[in-house]
Amino acid sequence: MFSSSLREFVSRHRRKFIVGGIIVSTIVFIRYTARRLREWQEKEIKDMLDKSKRRQYFDCNERTCSQMIMSLIATLRDSIIKVVDTEAVVNKLRSGCPDKIACWNELKVLAITRSAVVVYSHAMLATLIRIQFNIMGGHVYKDIQNSNGTATENVIQTNYMSISRHFIYEEIKKLTSLIKSKVAEITASISLKDELTLKDIEEIYWALTSSISADSSKDPVKNLAEYMLLPNYEEEKTPVLLKLFSETLDLLESEEVQNLTQSNIRSGFSLLVDHISAFFVVSPIIENGKSIENGISVPGTSNRTSINTKYDSSAFININKVSMPMAKIIPIINGQVPDKATSKDFQSDLLQRLITNDELKTLGANIYEAFSF
Ligand SMILES: *[C@@H]1O[C@H](CO)[C@@H](O)[C@H](O)[C@H]1NC(C)=O
Ligand SMILES: *[C@@H]1O[C@H](CO)[C@@H](O)[C@H](O)[C@H]1NC(C)=O
Ligand SMILES: *[C@@H]1O[C@H](CO)[C@@H](O)[C@H](O)[C@H]1NC(C)=O
Repeated sequence: MFSSSLREFVSRHRRKFIVGGIIVSTIVFIRYTARRLREWQEKEIKDMLDKSKRRQYFDCNERTCSQMIMSLIATLRDSIIKVVDTEAVVNKLRSGCPDKIACWNELKVLAITRSAVVVYSHAMLATLIRIQFNIMGGHVYKDIQNSNGTATENVIQTNYMSISRHFIYEEIKKLTSLIKSKVAEITASISLKDELTLKDIEEIYWALTSSISADSSKDPVKNLAEYMLLPNYEEEKTPVLLKLFSETLDLLESEEVQNLTQSNIRSGFSLLVDHISAFFVVSPIIENGKSIENGISVPGTSNRTSINTKYDSSAFININKVSMPMAKIIPIINGQVPDKATSKDFQSDLLQRLITNDELKTLGANIYEAFSF
């Protein structure tokens, strides 16, 4: 009885009920959203504060990282100069070498090896330090947030950061011997009298990287972790340190890091050839036995004046036509990594580029982001 009248009542007032229902739920919804909104705002503000703190900490970490790269690469450079000693051969040549040709050939291999070791090792070390600093930075930030900053103590940080010494003093010898054997193979047929263009020099370096890449079991890029980490890092007894090592290992073995290292090696060689090219423009060209004025020969544009060609883009293309005997090129290549660094030499330029390299910075920022939560 009651229920049927209720049903009638409901059906008569259905519209009203529906509207009422909407009103009720809208009020609930507004109340709910206001609360959520406030919560969301609070969270957002907290996040913003966290983010700016995290950002501040990151920027500080970045500056320290760049300084660390500079100082460790200076150490690496000294180590390379000792391991690939060209000065001894140069001195032998100066003081009279019994077999002059053999001495020159030795210098040929050593000079090219030294420049290539610089390109490889600098790209590798700069990558390792970026990775280490950002793993470390992320962990330290997280520790500070959890306000029990004991997990990554200073002693652990120092032990972790010092693994690069192993590369600088030990693995550099392995890298050098690999590169030296490849250089000897590639340049065996180039005699001191052979005339080489800049393009020929570029091809020597290109052949070198191809030959190293093809040697998968020894390629330092494919075996980054083997070159950069301690050989027995798995035996590390401190759990925190072991964790840092295995996180570093994962990154060094990732395709992304290896591709980036390979790409930095490629740009390193371009920069090297660029520095060598400075010695090619000033020398006069000998073409068909006659020297050409200003060192610029522009075939097929004989109606242009030499003043025009001097500033013409065709003058640039022409660098590739300049050739020099190998005996003259060897001291130029050897001069790219002088025993005493200068601010304008190739190696200093390469270091600057690695420090400011955007892709490496992005990699670092992503690692920091991933480890600071
Ligand atoms: C740090 O503190 C957090 C929260 O108090 C805790 O969960 C974590 O286990 C602590 N970590 C260490 C290494 O003590
Ligand atoms: C790395 O380089 C290889 C070959 O160039 C490419 O096939 C691959 O997709 C690259 N991987 C990443 C993660 O960039
Ligand atoms: C002279 O130079 C112009 C461009 O400056 C070129 O178009 C033209 O073909 C040249 N003439 C000859 C005869 O080489």
